[in-house]
Amino acid sequence: MSGIQGKVIAITGASSGIGAETAAHLGERGARLVLAARREDRLKAVVDGITAKNGTAIGVLVDVTRREDLQRLTDTALDHYGRLDVLVSNAGTMAVSPFDDLRQDDWDAMVSTHITGLLNGIGAALPIFRRQRSGQFVNVGSTAAYVVKTPQAVYAATKTAVKVLTEGLRQESGPDLRVTLVSPGFTNTEGVGKGASPEAAAALTQQRDEIAMPPSAIASAIGYAIEQPDGVDVSEIVVRPTVQT
Ligand SMILES: NC(=O)c1ccc[n+]([C@@H]2O[C@H](COP(=O)([O-])OP(=O)(O)OC[C@H]3O[C@@H](n4cnc5c(N)ncnc54)[C@H](OP(=O)(O)O)[C@@H]3O)[C@@H](O)[C@H]2O)c1
Repeated sequence: MSGIQGKVIAITGASSGIGAETAAHLGERGARLVLAARREDRLKAVVDGITAKNGTAIGVLVDVTRREDLQRLTDTALDHYGRLDVLVSNAGTMAVSPFDDLRQDDWDAMVSTHITGLLNGIGAALPIFRRQRSGQFVNVGSTAAYVVKTPQAVYAATKTAVKVLTEGLRQESGPDLRVTLVSPGFTNTEGVGKGASPEAAAALTQQRDEIAMPPSAIASAIGYAIEQPDGVDVSEIVVRPTVQT
């Protein structure tokens, strides 16, 4: 199976930003989508936007930190479409702050969303992909895993974990499965600065407004990795604005 047309693709964090844009991009190209997030109204708006353009999408309320929610997501794909071809693990939180602020709930949220959330997705999708003898994981990392900038250490550490887990999974995946890491740089989404300490949020949103790329840059990178033929693994893509250091 190659291309995007007809593929069953589940996307976490699909209610806004990169996830919503990726859903729209894949929906326009004929994917059958299962979209996941926690905010029901925002998720419904994304699903409705796709179906209004004759795309195929359903929404599932999912908190990726909960193992059973990811199981429900993949079960929904099987119930509705009979298979799952791709899981895009994109849900994330950029609630960055200096260590001295001791925003430990935010540290926990980044660890549980990016690391536990990713593992929950692997746990739910891997047995399906093995049974089908086909499937693709697309994991959304960050350039923060390549260049660590203060006060983003916890965020960068969790995105480094995403990078490491993705590479380890790729090595174990065998000839039938594909595993892709897509690492965005500054991207113009509502998530930049959201939940961050006030100074960090101000600096990040200012930088976003000055240099960020549109989320379509990441959506098309994800689409590129998915549309390759079976047997071609786009293992890693880093996309950043030219002006980002
Ligand atoms: N924007 C950037 O500059 C940038 C750069 C590098 C990497 N990234 C990564 O790109 C991904 C998407 O971020 P974005 O920029 O598009 O920000 P965003 O618009 O805030 O999107 C984040 C998405 O994740 C969902 N989410 C957060 N926690 C969740 C949880 N526990 N369970 C389920 N869904 C959850 C949110 O939906 P709900 O709140 O509705 O659940 C939302 O749909 C993240 O992994 C982020 O780290 C972004």
